Amino acid sequence: SAAAEHGLESVKRKLCRLVASSLSVTVPGLDVEPMLEVSKPGFGDYQCNNALSLFSSLRGTGTNFQNPRSIGQTILNNLPSSDIVESTSVAGPGYVNIVISSDWIAKMIQDMLIYGIKTWAPTMPVNRVIVDFSSPNIAKEMHVGHIRSTIIGDALARMLEFANVEVLRRNHVGDWGTQFGMLIEFLFEQFPNWKEVGNQAIEDLQSFYKASKIKFDDESSGFKAKAKQAVVRLQQGEDRYRAAWEKICQISHNEFDSVYKRLGVELEEKGESFYNPYIPPVLEELTNKGLITKSEGAQVISIAGQKSPLIVVKRDGGFNYASTDLAALWYRLNVERAEWIVYVTDVGQKQHFHKFFSAASMAGWLPDQNEKEYPKTTHVGFGLVLGLDGKRFRTRCSEVVRLVDLLDEAKSRCKEELIGRLTENGKIADWTVDELDTTSEAIGLGAVKYADLKNNRLTDYTFSFDKMLSDKGNTAVYLQYAHARICSIIRKANKDIEELKTKASITFVHADERALGLHVIRFQEVVEQACADLLPHYLCDYLYSLSEAFSKFYASCQVVGSPEEASRLLLCHATAVVMRQCFNLLGITPVYKL
Ligand code: ARG
Repeated sequence: SAAAEHGLESVKRKLCRLVASSLSVTVPGLDVEPMLEVSKPGFGDYQCNNALSLFSSLRGTGTNFQNPRSIGQTILNNLPSSDIVESTSVAGPGYVNIVISSDWIAKMIQDMLIYGIKTWAPTMPVNRVIVDFSSPNIAKEMHVGHIRSTIIGDALARMLEFANVEVLRRNHVGDWGTQFGMLIEFLFEQFPNWKEVGNQAIEDLQSFYKASKIKFDDESSGFKAKAKQAVVRLQQGEDRYRAAWEKICQISHNEFDSVYKRLGVELEEKGESFYNPYIPPVLEELTNKGLITKSEGAQVISIAGQKSPLIVVKRDGGFNYASTDLAALWYRLNVERAEWIVYVTDVGQKQHFHKFFSAASMAGWLPDQNEKEYPKTTHVGFGLVLGLDGKRFRTRCSEVVRLVDLLDEAKSRCKEELIGRLTENGKIADWTVDELDTTSEAIGLGAVKYADLKNNRLTDYTFSFDKMLSDKGNTAVYLQYAHARICSIIRKANKDIEELKTKASITFVHADERALGLHVIRFQEVVEQACADLLPHYLCDYLYSLSEAFSKFYASCQVVGSPEEASRLLLCHATAVVMRQCFNLLGITPVYKL
């Protein structure tokens, strides 16, 4: 890859290697992990914090070190010389401050501009990953939880794809189960010529589901018994039932697809039904390994430390969510040969994943849940979406939140705001109707996605149009403006950037200029961490601080028409390139003109 060819490791990784090499001389024989952090302002660029904890672990071992500071000094003395480091110093109780060479920062940026942002992609220890996300249930509402899963899952897939990992984007749709007996029977009753009716007849599958459920629950109708019969006939593969099932799935499928298209999310559906044939042999394997026992008529796997076992065959002999997940995991490990399988659902399913991952370990499918070993499974949980009242998010008129309505509202609010702003500045005439539309769509959708992604995914987040569409603070709207402003500065200069990349060079004159440059190159270590921890909000935090660093730079450094114009244009361009890459990883379409 280009990255390997140019040896472009992140600054942090490079420094870690220098520190590791110093530690191996400073405290030989002790295998100490380098502790390296970005410094607080005024204390160099990076800080090595090993001295304090080393001193306490060495105490009483007859060490020659008098105090932590002397360890810090020794770590500093033993640092190999490197063209990355400008200077070093020891502060307080032994912190080693490292100042990065400005020339080196400039060269890193210039190389990235010439060879492309892909040279800053992280390297992951795996080749193939499955991201199981979105995964709504047929005929049931695609609720806010599925929306979060779709947005977070897509961002994770994009991040891993950027890291040159092959990502299988799996939609584990709930397309199997007892509700289908009810749905099929209801379809037969409501639409005797169901084969001919167009999709629009039962397009609103949610109301269809609700109506059939009312009938199902009405004991007097005799419908329940028929529905149960229908499940059996579907599972036995009877043609008419199979065809009806397919029809219902197809309609649902079309509905989901329109949402994915609008969001720009790619997904490959392998629903629960797909794994059905794999369940019996998988359960047989687990039985042979002695993992499955009978309990109150059901078949279960006991999990250490858990009060209730994992049920894999229900009392009525039917399979369930867990048996399907075990079969799917078997398939993903043995047929698809994925090394890392990532499941994106709300934290409410934590128990389920913990139990079935444990069962897989007990079966010897996964090495013991050790972080560093592969194949590995990870549950990526996320919190609830709350309304302004602090309760579960709902829209005004209905209990169900329709994603399309949300997106439409975000877009129309953005459009109104944009038109108002452009009219005020007398710029409305420069915009075509089409431009206004695509720009509002990009900003509106980006705002909805960003509001979700910017929080640590584990926390609940409050859905507020006013907050997410504000042009101040850590919002996508603010960031879009920041990016568009950089683009307009570059346009105003009217220089050939491609030519500048190789003909001009970057030099830092002002401190804010250097600070921006250092922030630009930190992109690499931030994506790397975000990929390793599967936490997209690292990218959001970074993006926001990058635009702040840019604002600071732009307030103190003239770009267009200054003696440093060429160098500063390159720095502006690099900032915009990195911002766009972040937007892209978050699934947000950047806007160039605002
Ligand atoms: N359909 C499930 C739900 O709506 C989510 C499926 C997640 N993926 C999995 N392999 N269990 O809750």
